[in-house]
Amino acid sequence: MSVLQLSGDVVYGQQELTGEVHISIDGTSVATSEGELLVEAVLRHNEIPHICYHSPLMGPIQTCDTCIVEVDGKLVRSCGTKVVPGMKVVTESKRAKDARAEAFDVILGNHMLYCTVCDNNNENCRVHNTALALNVEHQEHEFKPKPYEVDMSNPFYRYDPSQCILCGQCVQACQTVQVNETLSIGWELEHPRVLWDGGMQIGGSSCVSCGHCITVCPCNALMEKSMLGEAGFLSGMPKESLNKMIDVVKAIEPEMGYGAIMQVSQTESVMREERIKKTKTVCTYCGVGCSYDVWTKDRKILKISPLHGDTNQISTCVKGKFGWDFVNSKDRLQTPLIREGAGFREATWEEALSLVTTKLGSIKQQYGPDALSVIISSKATNEDGYLMQKFARAVVGTNNIDNCSRYCQSPATMGLFRTVGYGGDSGSIENIAKSGLVLIVGSNTADSHPVLATRVKRAHKLFGQRLIVADPREHEMARRADIHFRPRPGTDLVWISAMSRYMLDNGHAKQEFLDQWVNGLDEYRKSLEPFTMEYAARICEVPLETLEQVAEEIAAARSVAVLWAMGITQHMRASDGSTAISNLLLITGNYMRDEGGAYPLRGHNNVQGAGDIGAAPIYYPGYQPVTDAANRKKFEDAWGVSLPPQRGMDNHQMVDAIYEGKLRAMYVAGEDMISADSNANHVAGAFEKLDFFVVQDIFFTETCRYADVILPASPALEKDGTFSSTERRIQRLYQALPELGDSRADWKITQDIANRMGANWNYQHPSEIMAEMASLTPLYAGVSYERLEGYKTLQWPVAPDGTDQPVLYLNGFPFPDNKARLYPLDFREPDEQPDADFDLFLNNGRMLEHFHEGNMTARVPGIHEETPERYIEISEELAKERNIESGRWVRVTSRHGSLVIKTLVTSRVFGYQVYLPLLSQEGPINILTGSHSDPATNTPAYKETAVRIKLLPEQGTNPLRPLNPRYSGKPTPQSGVEVERKWKRKDYRMPGSEKLVQIQL
Ligand code: SF4
Ligand code: SF4
Ligand code: SF4
Ligand code: FES
Repeated sequence: MSVLQLSGDVVYGQQELTGEVHISIDGTSVATSEGELLVEAVLRHNEIPHICYHSPLMGPIQTCDTCIVEVDGKLVRSCGTKVVPGMKVVTESKRAKDARAEAFDVILGNHMLYCTVCDNNNENCRVHNTALALNVEHQEHEFKPKPYEVDMSNPFYRYDPSQCILCGQCVQACQTVQVNETLSIGWELEHPRVLWDGGMQIGGSSCVSCGHCITVCPCNALMEKSMLGEAGFLSGMPKESLNKMIDVVKAIEPEMGYGAIMQVSQTESVMREERIKKTKTVCTYCGVGCSYDVWTKDRKILKISPLHGDTNQISTCVKGKFGWDFVNSKDRLQTPLIREGAGFREATWEEALSLVTTKLGSIKQQYGPDALSVIISSKATNEDGYLMQKFARAVVGTNNIDNCSRYCQSPATMGLFRTVGYGGDSGSIENIAKSGLVLIVGSNTADSHPVLATRVKRAHKLFGQRLIVADPREHEMARRADIHFRPRPGTDLVWISAMSRYMLDNGHAKQEFLDQWVNGLDEYRKSLEPFTMEYAARICEVPLETLEQVAEEIAAARSVAVLWAMGITQHMRASDGSTAISNLLLITGNYMRDEGGAYPLRGHNNVQGAGDIGAAPIYYPGYQPVTDAANRKKFEDAWGVSLPPQRGMDNHQMVDAIYEGKLRAMYVAGEDMISADSNANHVAGAFEKLDFFVVQDIFFTETCRYADVILPASPALEKDGTFSSTERRIQRLYQALPELGDSRADWKITQDIANRMGANWNYQHPSEIMAEMASLTPLYAGVSYERLEGYKTLQWPVAPDGTDQPVLYLNGFPFPDNKARLYPLDFREPDEQPDADFDLFLNNGRMLEHFHEGNMTARVPGIHEETPERYIEISEELAKERNIESGRWVRVTSRHGSLVIKTLVTSRVFGYQVYLPLLSQEGPINILTGSHSDPATNTPAYKETAVRIKLLPEQGTNPLRPLNPRYSGKPTPQSGVEVERKWKRKDYRMPGSEKLVQIQL
């Protein structure tokens, strides 16, 4: 276990606690560890106030003084004191109690108690609860509002300076957990307050609306706007009446004391339990797998409350914290639709399902099962996916089943299969944070996997972790990196292989590890012959000195974790690029340990799960090949049917097969293929040719336009199930809201269709689906809903007894001889290159606020307010050369299509490279990308597209709005809350005694 310690501007470190020691607390011997924060040991023994101390993750802040205890006769802050063997602690002496009461009284000078009409009084308000616990009757320090307005300028949350107790937890969270470095406290101001970018207003600051600060705020100073007027029975009354009520309460307080008043507010807060439902869920956006409680009142989503997630604890990003309005969007599909002429008409489920099953049945009969195909979204649950692949195989009789990992993750999985055997992250996010060096290749981690990025930013800022980023674009992680370099797109395999050769040539390879655990060294070494540093420098267009510096960093690092994503996996040689990374990790011995390792960052919330559960043309659940007779027999016996022996088509092949007349009908659930697949025109042309096309979704997407029948599905908040995150972490989500209108959970729809086509399924709950899958899938053998209850999680492989594996490969690799395999590679130039006609290189990817094409996030008004439209980023050099200002309309044309879009001039891109965020609300940006793909996986080479731009006459406004953090934000990094500056104030008095000892950590 490690504890994080902070004292003012002294940066705290990650330190191992030493063995068990005993200390005396109130005369009782209490077991603890040397170096543990005393407050943790005290709280195990006795509940004392600790308003500014949140958790070991946040560390001690020491601003509130409410945790004072006596240690060996001296008053100390227990949060700012480390355990020393033999210390004698007294928590209940009069001195200590008086000091704590005085400290809390100072807090009340900064905070008006109007709990009964406060939307924060939901049994978790630490100020309210402390007032109650201390039996506060009257306050000495008169409450004085601060001379600042309430700040409502952020779309999602507000700050009320007059209620702010200056505990600094928001600052600590922003500076050291989220590491966005927006917040500080102006301790030197006459009236201290929280500052955004050193100034007074949230809107226009660098705040990315991640919500960490609101989550940790112990009172109502920072609150979600969605809570205001909603939580309390009386808090929704008009402001004037509310103020009058507060005045009445304040008037009676001197005579009555707080006791009776607090009892009323306490009773009211307990009554809120009835009115507010708190449901554990798992984020529906990216693959990090943040989990949290969602608070709802009827269908209103009041707030997201993270705390207990193994992955994220208090962390979220803007999408997870605030991106939920889409669930109640008026655009939700709520009833089945059937094509009628050029449009659609509403239909009953009976009518729609009977049409679907009749048509699918007749096409199967006429053309055979392989004329049909099925796609399931990697946003759907594991249980949805399992049933869909069972439907394809056991009911239709085809292996034509795929999911959207084809568009991003399949090459990473292939690279790992070739070398180490499992298609998943080799460790957990915690293991990344522990690593000596993090190497990020082709991943815009801060935008695409924001909470995971916080752990790297934190380790880099506070714990001396080294950070190297290889990326054509200077995104946030690149800006923070110790070394950032820009390899020529499509050439990563070369410099990575050159690193491997450098390690071998210069004695930095982990020879003992290679001897014991790795096959194929000689052949691999031979294949590295061309990959000298000089060759890499020339091909990748990176200075030789930079590459040598990177190599030396890798050689010197205690451990290396490589994070990669679509910057590697969306190229022609994507599988080879991923393989090169894994080769390098083997050469440097970064497998089989609890730091370092391979981390292909999974994009969608359940993209890992969609592969795991067999939504793939070649694998049954758990990556069991369909071509293996024994596997087939196992599933045939379990399902009571004959199964097709040959592999099916992936989604890329399905499109081609439609053109060839081989594929006649498709059933696509939750996948906006036109927006997500490359070469949108080509895909749309194929869909037009289908005999019958069923789309199941929550919104009317681009793909729906081509459907014959549209079935309304329900999103994550409306269903039970499990998701598997990038860490291979399986987590339960619980139904928070009823299905909207006539919409239904995907698994229910699939079951209904299957039964109408002759199956006899009778799943009553997703837990039964998981039980079946676990019984057939060794990787999931010990997975059950009981073992996943609440916030419990499991990381596969899970043994039958429930033992899981946060770190893979601790005992070798899943090959017959237990050894990993080095995989020789060569290099070929990308097929599509810029030329005189198409002179610019187009890159593309996600952006923080929007998920992928924005089907969900564009329906969140606050996100829309900050980032309402799509744009293309162009470099300052190109802008100067072509006289372009931000907001200028241009036509972008590739060899495959063309679109009109606004420009954003930015230093993030360089030279003749342009960048297109994937936001596609005004039409798919994949109109520009081609069908060329990675030969090993058919993953499109989205990131190998050449374009030209033509200036149009119109000059528009900047596509980013002033509220957007990228618009004008200027963060103010500091090590934490800097409490020493508070202690230096003339008006600061140490509670209890002038002799309070300032503990030096
Ligand atoms: S970035 Fe904004 S929302 Fe996130 S912790 Fe900082 S101030 Fe709060
Ligand atoms: S706004 Fe920040 S400093 Fe003020 S009470 Fe909340 S967490 Fe503490
Ligand atoms: S980091 Fe990913 S999983 Fe976590 S809240 Fe954001 S989108 Fe959701
Ligand atoms: S909890 Fe220790 S000073 Fe606030």
